[in-house]
Amino acid sequence: MFFIPGTHTEHGLTHSPLKALISPRPIGWISSVSAGGVANLSPYSFFNAIAEFPPMVMFISAPDARAENKNGHKDSLANILETREFGVNIVGRKQAEQMVKSSQPVEASIDEFDHAGLTKMAGQKISAPLVTGAPAHLECTYYNHIDLPKNANGSHSVMVLGHIVGIHIDDNMVENGRVDVTRFQPVARLGYMDYANVTDVYEMTP
Ligand SMILES: Cc1cc2nc3c(=O)[nH]c(=O)nc-3n(C[C@H](O)[C@H](O)[C@H](O)COP(=O)(O)O)c2cc1C
Repeated sequence: MFFIPGTHTEHGLTHSPLKALISPRPIGWISSVSAGGVANLSPYSFFNAIAEFPPMVMFISAPDARAENKNGHKDSLANILETREFGVNIVGRKQAEQMVKSSQPVEASIDEFDHAGLTKMAGQKISAPLVTGAPAHLECTYYNHIDLPKNANGSHSVMVLGHIVGIHIDDNMVENGRVDVTRFQPVARLGYMDYANVTDVYEMTP
């Protein structure tokens, strides 16, 4: 089949297939704190590493219809624009259920670590808290953001770019000087409500 984006239902597809086609996607489990000190934690699968030297990440925050008082920004984005830092908590199989729970829409005044039953770990370079027990954490500072084009409703997503300024790795995830992903089995987002864990790793050399 061939179709123009937005017309998938005319072709027998009940849901937009885009996220199923571009999968698996890594999950950036973004922790942040508001200027008022309320911690926030939410997963973002429009997320990736985008450069190595200097090391940088990005994620995309879709518009939030609930948040009229924050220019339509989700809480993570609003916090990062206020405090200019965030954490990326790596999601292994053990963190999967709490990661999904932290995506529930809750008031900005609610601490989402508490909501998801998670304990905070202090960062070394940033004041945003990190998720205790995650296999690794990236401490990030805000670099820039880009407003993406407006959709038919007049709202738009925002790409957030950050510098990685500190890296924590659970020593138990390291074998012979290399991170062994099979020890934590990174969780990937597929399409719809589907997820996968990385368990099958093979090496190829160019
Ligand atoms: C696995 C997963 C991936 C998600 N990816 C994104 C994403 O890339 N962009 C986005 O705006 N929302 C994404 N969401 C939804 C947000 O996590 C959700 O809207 C969250 O409540 C935002 O919270 P906040 O307002 O506290 O930042 C995702 C949810 C899940 C479960």
